[in-house]
Amino acid sequence: MTSSLPLEDRGLAYGDGLFETVLLNDGQPRLWDEHLARLVRGCHALGIPMPAEHDLAAPLAEAPRGLAVLKLVVTRGSGGRGYCPPRDPEPRLAWQVSAFSPAVDAWRQGVRVRHCRLRLGIQPLLAGIKHLGRLENVLARAEWSDPQVAEGLVCDSDGVLVEATAMNLFWQRDGRLETPCLDRCGVAGTLRAALLERLAIDEVAAKPEALLDAEAVWVGNSVQGVWPLVRLDDSDGHMLASWRLGKMHRALQAEAQALLGYPLAEH
Ligand SMILES: Cc1ncc(COP(=O)(O)O)c(C=O)c1O
Repeated sequence: MTSSLPLEDRGLAYGDGLFETVLLNDGQPRLWDEHLARLVRGCHALGIPMPAEHDLAAPLAEAPRGLAVLKLVVTRGSGGRGYCPPRDPEPRLAWQVSAFSPAVDAWRQGVRVRHCRLRLGIQPLLAGIKHLGRLENVLARAEWSDPQVAEGLVCDSDGVLVEATAMNLFWQRDGRLETPCLDRCGVAGTLRAALLERLAIDEVAAKPEALLDAEAVWVGNSVQGVWPLVRLDDSDGHMLASWRLGKMHRALQAEAQALLGYPLAEH
């Protein structure tokens, strides 16, 4: 277990590894089982031995009181020849704990979100896992600097909705909750997994136009919780749709807040 990686580490060289960002409250991890499950899937997909759970949990003992975020990084370690991975990898586990406060105004007032121009490449072998190669997310996030815009939505190269740059996407249409299916690209969030377990949410392939017919739209992740959308812009910043927050928005949000140990968002 380390807090830094050597330059020859394959995670640094090739993005050959995985990471998790876990919300901690007084050192207690939220959605821990979901984070471990995604790490298991990622290790399986990449052929990296899964670290022991007690090693992954070791940093929890050093967490401060209050809210914090634990970042866990698992890499294939060093060795191999160029891209060719070592036959018997010795994975490295690195971690960092940082104090954290969620964006409470975004819970309460909702957020403005825009569409990104960037298209995610379709790669079913990597779909859903949280691997270290996140350049698409970096490029998508670099598309705007207006602090009024909280998130950007990304589609795949067929123009099908996938997620936001660092959050999953949910909407309600004709009274039914929907979220993009993530079998071709995107990160299958731990909060999304927990919400899918608890609520009737359909995983669908939908084009961006679906959002224009939605009664409510949300973005969310396991650290920030769920933000309802009050406005959606195109990639030039022109408004496409707006929503007034109501009971419907608060219902899905309340489930997420409870899962993360956050208070209800209503005033
Ligand atoms: C691209 C992307 N999608 C979705 C998520 C949501 O994942 P989780 O709910 O596990 O935080 C994240 C989290 O950072 C992300 O980076």
